[in-house]
Amino acid sequence: MDQPTKIAVLVLASLALAVVLVLGVRGESFRDPPRNFWPDMVDQAKLRPQSPNAWFADGRAQRMPVGGTLPWGGDQRAADPAYAVVLEPLYALEKLPVPIDRRLLEAGRGIFDVYCAVCHGRAGDGKGITTRYGMLEPPSYHSERVRGLKAGEIFKTITEGKGQMGPYADKVAVEDRWAVVAWVRALQRAQAASIDDVPADARRELER
Ligand code: HEC
Repeated sequence: MDQPTKIAVLVLASLALAVVLVLGVRGESFRDPPRNFWPDMVDQAKLRPQSPNAWFADGRAQRMPVGGTLPWGGDQRAADPAYAVVLEPLYALEKLPVPIDRRLLEAGRGIFDVYCAVCHGRAGDGKGITTRYGMLEPPSYHSERVRGLKAGEIFKTITEGKGQMGPYADKVAVEDRWAVVAWVRALQRAQAASIDDVPADARRELER
């Protein structure tokens, strides 16, 4: 082998070795933590959870939040008694405390179809998709008993949940809960409608 051939073979061999080294460990899983040649902030002065700390009189490293601290995120006002919303009086309401219009009903239908229809069915008959997978069948909205519920009682069920049904207070805002109640009422009305519910001009059409 002359000199240039030797060099060529050497270069090719080391290239092949590099490819094997790089690709050969792909998909391999390692148990050891990666080597850290620059430990930087790994060893720093800190107090681990539950460890003692002589600095404070009670000797604890972990501190309670300062009194009056409000959590970041969520409903911050709920922690402030000045803004606390008291829902109990609403639970006793016979009828919806907000005007029922098209906008409210459409909002209610949207929320109902997202959160409630899986169990209650889009028509409120209690035959949602979950019942096919072994979940308890909820009562039909068209049963005598559920029809007789006050608006406030439905509002309460959405807020706090009932039996197998979880609460929706964290998912559906108070305003939106009334919209859902309005939609539940609309579903009930639709199933038990009489000819008197039909506007006069459309009634003639029906009676023909
Ligand atoms: C995971 C399934 C599930 C979802 C989702 C669900 N419910 Fe229910 N719901 C139930 C079950 C089960 C009951 C029967 C509870 C009981 O009486 O123990 C029930 C009961 C009810 C009742 C009757 C309460 C009563 O006093 O008898 C109403 C009204 C109601 N749900 C409305 C809603 C609304 C509105 C939503 C959406 C915000 C909703 N539910 C979401 C399962 C569900």
